[in-house]
Amino acid sequence: MIENKDAFTDRIHSAAQFIKSRIGQVIPEICVVLGSGLAPLAEQCVIETVLPYSEIPGFPVSTVPGHEGRLIVGSLEGKKIFMMSGRFHFYEGYDSSVCTLYVRVMAVLGVKTLVLTNAAGGLGDGMNPAELMAIEDHISFLCDSPLRGANLDEFGPRFPDQSCVYDREYLELLLSVAADASIKLHKGVYAYTKGPQYETPAEIRALKMLGASAVGMSTVPEAIVAAHSGLRVVAVSCITNMAAGISKEPLSHAEVMVNAGKASSSSCELVRRFIAAL
Ligand code: HPA
Repeated sequence: MIENKDAFTDRIHSAAQFIKSRIGQVIPEICVVLGSGLAPLAEQCVIETVLPYSEIPGFPVSTVPGHEGRLIVGSLEGKKIFMMSGRFHFYEGYDSSVCTLYVRVMAVLGVKTLVLTNAAGGLGDGMNPAELMAIEDHISFLCDSPLRGANLDEFGPRFPDQSCVYDREYLELLLSVAADASIKLHKGVYAYTKGPQYETPAEIRALKMLGASAVGMSTVPEAIVAAHSGLRVVAVSCITNMAAGISKEPLSHAEVMVNAGKASSSSCELVRRFIAAL
């Protein structure tokens, strides 16, 4: 929760100032968060600058294996972009406001579009592991809001509308890019859970009744803060496993990583083509 508005605001601005001092004149307007399986996208990028999170003042440091923490600045498909290689999760012990601090830093820098990717459990009928889902909406009311505490008025209002967190035009663009590339892309609602434990079968049945098609432990706080700051948000889940109770097999991080790997080339291709189409 944001307790000290001035200190938190200074933290955001000092990170933004540092990043600005380390990159060229042209500031990217797109930021892509590389979720599980998306790391190879950084290799397709013409990299200009790499800033380890540990060097950026005010940035938390990611603690999850496989979520290497560095901010990459470069270009992809001729477009200048930021890539967040590694994100921050509530289950790591950070407050939601800290997990999403980078989003506000991006807003201060002038980023207009946030592309979020993640690994998720699938609840939807007809979904299979290693397939992708475009997020059209989310369920977040089971968890604390990243906007809890003092409102940072310079970013957005106290009571932000949530009717359209995920940009409709970009969602359509993503779906059409996927169709053109023959990449199977589901569309659905993502339910956010705090983790780190996976859900119980009863929780998954409840989430399914509420209209969720996928479940995961990231993305939603970031999307809420991005929408609060006026950024256009696009989000894609890689369905890395069927959610608890849907598959009879126990869930494991190993299965998540294997299926994220299987979907990696289509996830990267989808995001790359989307950026080209922007
Ligand atoms: N639940 C929550 N988070 C996840 C899952 C899941 O089934 N799969 C990958 N991330």
